[in-house]
Amino acid sequence: MFIKNLQLENFRNYTLETFDFSQGVNVLTGANAQGKTNAAEAIFFLCTGYSPRANKDKLVIKNGEERAKIRGVATSNYGDVSVEIRFNKSDKKDIFINEIEVLKIGELLGNIHSVFFNPSELKLVQEAPEDRRRFLNISLSQKSKSYFYALQRYNKILSQRNNLLKEPDTYLIQETLPIWDEQLVKEASKIIKARNDFLVEIAPIAEEKHAFLSGGKEILKMKMESGYKGDELEIATFLKADLKANLQKDIRLGFTSIGPHRDDVKFILNGDDVKIFGSQGQQRTVALSVKLAEAESFKNKLGEYPILILDDVLSELDKPRQKKLISSVENMQTIFTATHIDRTVFKGKQFKQIVVENGKIKMVKE
Ligand SMILES: Nc1ncnc2c1ncn2[C@@H]1O[C@H](COP(=O)(O)OP(=O)(O)O)[C@@H](O)[C@H]1O
Ligand SMILES: [Mg+2]
Repeated sequence: MFIKNLQLENFRNYTLETFDFSQGVNVLTGANAQGKTNAAEAIFFLCTGYSPRANKDKLVIKNGEERAKIRGVATSNYGDVSVEIRFNKSDKKDIFINEIEVLKIGELLGNIHSVFFNPSELKLVQEAPEDRRRFLNISLSQKSKSYFYALQRYNKILSQRNNLLKEPDTYLIQETLPIWDEQLVKEASKIIKARNDFLVEIAPIAEEKHAFLSGGKEILKMKMESGYKGDELEIATFLKADLKANLQKDIRLGFTSIGPHRDDVKFILNGDDVKIFGSQGQQRTVALSVKLAEAESFKNKLGEYPILILDDVLSELDKPRQKKLISSVENMQTIFTATHIDRTVFKGKQFKQIVVENGKIKMVKE
């Protein structure tokens, strides 16, 4: 899959600009704060309906303007698809696929796929389990609508269950809870199974990517920390029993203490927990390896690679790792952003350079 063009209208620091991308490697260059990440962000928006910068939607509207628009045309195995998102000050966005409005994010997902990586994605390795669950959710939701809808239902049921746990009338809790738990377990087991499968799939690929990027010096192991294994039915049985066993504790806490909302992923490098013992450089390589493995998982599941967006990643790697990274993205459309192009790193490689300056395309070189 590749994105052919991207049109930005009053989006962040752009007034009106159209990017034409090559099917291979694209490098957006320019000094700091010129609009490179803004363009990368716009592509991710078209895929998922939300910003990787996690701001409020209306903040993307160019200062002083009333509305903004992003539009892109991508080509997949199934032909061309156009996605357009219109933003307005009320913070509600309108989404159009092939000119037809869709009312749910679920309908946007799966039209254009991408894997996004930038320096703040280091939180995938460094920070709270929530960041790792977000990674799992975004990746799985792009590939499977049924995962996305199961997650939506799960979150809704979970918050209703948590409200019930705070209820002073314990009799009411005992009476009503089994009904919630039945539904909760149904969605939870789908989510856990999909995450387990995903991890089993990407762990060996990420481990291989990491060995490659680190020149074979480091051995990565990654695994899911959910504690539930087996098929959906087995997961459901164990989870149900655990919910029952934890009921008094949950009532005391006023929230549900077990379930997929507590899942985590562990990264082990040369035997040690990367989160605690890894250097910045090692953590960065782990996060990048996981993202490259994620790209492979799209290929495995959907038969084609996603658009790989690597924002500000090159500058953070040493030259040997930069070269290795560039050689490992040759089979998919890649959009790099960088302040400049190091000719020694790109030597012998074909790429399209798009220079941006102050929200405008200043120059294009192929
Ligand atoms: N809503 C907005 N309206 C106008 N300018 C914006 C808006 N949001 C961000 N910007 C500007 O975009 C610039 C940052 O662009 P960015 O793409 O992050 O830069 P870089 O080229 O370094 O990646 C900043 O100058 C910022 O002020
Ligand atoms: Mg940037």
